[in-house]
Amino acid sequence: MHRVTLIGLCLTSASLCANLAQTPPMGWNSWNKFAEKIDDQTVRAIADAMVSSGMKDAGYIYVNIDDTWEGQRDAQGNIQSNSKFPDMKALADYVHGKGLKIGIYSSPGPKTCAGYEGSYQHEAQDAKTWAAWGIDYLKYDWCSADKVYKPSEMPSVYKKMGDALKATGRPIVFSLCQYGLEKVWEWGASVGGNLWRTTDDIQDNWDSMTKIGFDKQLTLARYAGPGHWNDPDMLEIGNGGMNPTEYRTHMSLWAMLAAPLLAGNDIRSMNADTRNILLNKEVIAIDQDPLGQEATRVSRDGAAEVWTRQLANGDLAVALFNRSEGMTEVDARWEIIGLKGKHKAHDLWLHQELGTVRDSYSAEVQAHGVILVRIAR
Ligand code: GLA
Repeated sequence: MHRVTLIGLCLTSASLCANLAQTPPMGWNSWNKFAEKIDDQTVRAIADAMVSSGMKDAGYIYVNIDDTWEGQRDAQGNIQSNSKFPDMKALADYVHGKGLKIGIYSSPGPKTCAGYEGSYQHEAQDAKTWAAWGIDYLKYDWCSADKVYKPSEMPSVYKKMGDALKATGRPIVFSLCQYGLEKVWEWGASVGGNLWRTTDDIQDNWDSMTKIGFDKQLTLARYAGPGHWNDPDMLEIGNGGMNPTEYRTHMSLWAMLAAPLLAGNDIRSMNADTRNILLNKEVIAIDQDPLGQEATRVSRDGAAEVWTRQLANGDLAVALFNRSEGMTEVDARWEIIGLKGKHKAHDLWLHQELGTVRDSYSAEVQAHGVILVRIAR
């Protein structure tokens, strides 16, 4: 009865379904590590590992299948999964049985980026199919849509799917993936988007991660908030292309940006560094802070950058980043970060109280490293 009522309300009032993604979505996505080598058995094993590794308890709830699950349409036009995924409903049931949620992927174009079947001219039908399977999250990737639509049509194309998802009555997080084209941050929320990619694809290296995480987000903070987030792409932590210091910077930066935290590594085989980074609950708490206010850069001196983020309880998260290849002193002076007097500070990577600090917090930061502190007010 309760469920029926909820579905009815969802259909009549978008705002009642708008309580999705009140904090940035957390989970895992298959693409960065597995690309097309993903199948039912691997997704089940990842779901198991999300529970046994503590990822689920830390808040990583969505298990998202990216491109290459799609099969042919049946005679009625219903999308079917391919032979790697023999029964999507059974897989969704399995993932739900672990207390997790499941996500899927499609394109508004005729084909996905990897050349599989897209949702073009089947939008409502596909949304219904996914809802019937029990899907909780859709990543909708522009890909070949540029062959059938003009760029200016993007908002209406995304709205079509946003409306179709709402019409199913099932709460489905809607993730827009069109690489930041057409200033998506200005209209993403209004077409039903809960998050939107702001850039091209991330790669597992320092240059890619920092270009995306620092430089491309500089002017976007004001567009993020509960229910609608900037998405600088999925995490590469644990995939091997950066060292642990750089991956700590990656995690810290994404947390400061209120970015979705979608692990992109093999959860079944995480080493201690990867585990400590992805499962740092104090850093996750910054990302998931209920105020939902994304960080801004408050100072830059060569490779030294200070970013701050206002938190719901009045505290201030302060990140001292060093983008250079040598040890650098980074200085967060109170007049720059908007503080006065004495304040207690806590280091979120060392898990240590730093005592009371006055006038500024400054520290030597490792090459490509970060010091992330939470300052009480
Ligand atoms: C695009 C997206 C990626 C991934 C691939 C899949 O490149 O940006 O995140 O989904 O497509 O083909």
